[in-house]
Amino acid sequence: MSERAPIRVGMLGCGNIGAAVARLLTDHSSDIERRAGCRLEIVRVAVRNPAVERGVGLPADRFTADPEEVVDDPGVDVVCEVIGGIEPARSLILRALRAGKPVVTANKELLANFGRELFDAADEAGADLAFEGSVAGGIPLVRPMKESLAGERIVRLMGIVNGTTNYVLTRMTEDGMPFGDALAQAQQLGYAERDPTDDVEGFDAAAKCAILASIAFNARVVAGDVYREGIAGVSGEDIRFARRLGYVIKLIAFAEVEDGEVAVRVHPAMIPSDHPLAAVRENLNAVFLEGAASGPLMFYGRGAGGAPTAAAVVGDLVAVARNLRWGGREMGCTCYEERRVRPMDRHESQYYLLLEAVDRPGVLAKVAGAFGENQVSIKEVWQEGGGEEALLVMITHRANEGALQRTVSDLRALDVVSAVKSVMRVEGAE
Ligand SMILES: NC(=O)c1ccc[n+]([C@@H]2O[C@H](COP(=O)([O-])OP(=O)(O)OC[C@H]3O[C@@H](n4cnc5c(N)ncnc54)[C@H](OP(=O)(O)O)[C@@H]3O)[C@@H](O)[C@H]2O)c1
Repeated sequence: MSERAPIRVGMLGCGNIGAAVARLLTDHSSDIERRAGCRLEIVRVAVRNPAVERGVGLPADRFTADPEEVVDDPGVDVVCEVIGGIEPARSLILRALRAGKPVVTANKELLANFGRELFDAADEAGADLAFEGSVAGGIPLVRPMKESLAGERIVRLMGIVNGTTNYVLTRMTEDGMPFGDALAQAQQLGYAERDPTDDVEGFDAAAKCAILASIAFNARVVAGDVYREGIAGVSGEDIRFARRLGYVIKLIAFAEVEDGEVAVRVHPAMIPSDHPLAAVRENLNAVFLEGAASGPLMFYGRGAGGAPTAAAVVGDLVAVARNLRWGGREMGCTCYEERRVRPMDRHESQYYLLLEAVDRPGVLAKVAGAFGENQVSIKEVWQEGGGEEALLVMITHRANEGALQRTVSDLRALDVVSAVKSVMRVEGAE
């Protein structure tokens, strides 16, 4: 083992991820030392409540409730931010970078909203800002996309990047559970927060989509650029009809570049049941990339959780420590192109619609008329039931989103249609 001085890590946070990072650094210390070329030692830890025992084998005097003390400590070489949220994480990271200290973070919310500011500060100081843990937890994506695929041109990306919603949709699909029961089960198993809004409404996936799109297309995309719909509106009927049509419903983050513009969106979608992402079940994540040279590439694994995310954070700590020890820098911000974000009403895909309509002669003609007037062409239609509450299931050919939305409002105005129960995009089929 080397006699070199250790790289001294200051931790901001010691919750799920922070404690798992501390344990990995201890449990794998000898491998880490060989890979980094020196020991990595946690010398200071900021938490809200230092009196709480963390079970990470660090002496009590290393804990403090003042995170600035950690950042400012001249004995800290690297800052590892796993507090989460925007503030104080943002100010603390900026403070560390401006003092020339490299930062490792797993904070997707911060990067997806303030990435530019943070990377500018990192570049100005010539310090590393590494963030592998911020997208899809334990799945290596940031470094492979930035470095291993530096010679590649990524044209499209589709990802299941939220484990909670994938778990809920899996239970609904495989066990026929209603949405509420599946979500309650996810909460019992610790896959969903007590307030599941961020996951269920797609905010978490949108933040990750923004980060992935920024890396894939070399242009800054922020969370607010991402069109977003959650899964609360997905019904058992939708799942049943999807299966009959040969599809699976998943919450998907899409990012693509077309005519120099970036299109970014997160929404439930029907994808063909033989698509590689259809096989991603339970709370697992996967990102499917299409490279101009390599073709399809898929990254699959645990997208969250203490140990998987900590493994990604420790990987960054080793890379940053090597740079400190031997010189060199991580590839910094790669958002060197300016790209416009394509508005959603210019999006095109196939659509699935579920209508409740009365079963009378002439109804189909009226419904078809609403589609025809908006230049949306119907690929398939069938009816279930009859009388006053017949269900009409319709799949369109590829259509423009704006035209489809106009069709939906025209359908709602028809006296023969009592409800437009669902509208969902069908992707990857035509
Ligand atoms: N959990 C996951 O599966 C996962 C996956 C990928 C990325 N991430 C990201 O990793 C980060 C951390 O997540 P987590 O699940 O570990 O969160 P967590 O369990 O809530 O831990 C947060 C830690 O930060 C400390 N803290 C909060 N505010 C503080 C303040 N003002 N000053 C000092 N310490 C403060 C807390 O102290 P106390 O313990 O005393 O309250 C706690 O130790 C977040 O950015 C999250 O998005 C998490």
